[in-house]
Amino acid sequence: MIFDTHAHYDDPAYEKDRKELFQLMRSEGVGLITDIGADIESSRKAAELSNTYDFFYAAAGVHPSEVYSLEEADMDILRELAKNPKVAAIGEIGLDYHYEDTVRDVQKKWFIRQLALAKEVKLPVVIHSRDAAQDTLEIMKDVHAEDIGGVIHCFSYGWEMAKIYLDMGFYLGIGGVVTFKNAKKLKEVVQKAPMERLVLETDAPYLAPEPYRGKRNASHYLKYVAEEIASLRSMTPDEVIRITEENGKQMYRIG
Ligand code: NI
Repeated sequence: MIFDTHAHYDDPAYEKDRKELFQLMRSEGVGLITDIGADIESSRKAAELSNTYDFFYAAAGVHPSEVYSLEEADMDILRELAKNPKVAAIGEIGLDYHYEDTVRDVQKKWFIRQLALAKEVKLPVVIHSRDAAQDTLEIMKDVHAEDIGGVIHCFSYGWEMAKIYLDMGFYLGIGGVVTFKNAKKLKEVVQKAPMERLVLETDAPYLAPEPYRGKRNASHYLKYVAEEIASLRSMTPDEVIRITEENGKQMYRIG
């Protein structure tokens, strides 16, 4: 069964047809989904989804673009959410220097703080890192992230960087981008990485694979991602789905 290790079904994009879509996805071979928090409110909603649906797990954390209004008291909320047995990770957390209004020191502060929280509550982390390769790596080395574990979500750097994270014991999240023609770097990473360290993820509603690029994403579209990985590694899509499901369970320490 397909394990979508990273999705945002708490997003308003699913407000109208969430239930119907979940049924459709189930009938299309989706077995497990982790809904990922991006701020305090969506972390709460992710936990709610995981309480409502057997096949959902959740992650609680604050995305680097959402950290600017955080206070230390918000860490208490995340710590409480982490007590829920269906909350399987702290995330998504990290650094995103893509936008001009980025305040790097503030992002770094809350990235470090949430890594410490993950260590404290003994959960793996879901890392978001965009246009911030060096600073992300420096912080993860400083805090000994190899003792925390988790996934580099929507992995977007080259093989050299992938190798370092693999050596730290991290998994690489592979989604719709790998189906894009111009994704040469990522295709190379998918060919070279050990199969037991790849997990499937949509980042739904974003990053739909070909042939749905630009449309609202959904977990059953991961079959196109599995097909691309299979062709890059000379395997069958079914093998990719089976192995990445196992990897996802190991990574989130579930089942
Ligand atoms: Ni995400």
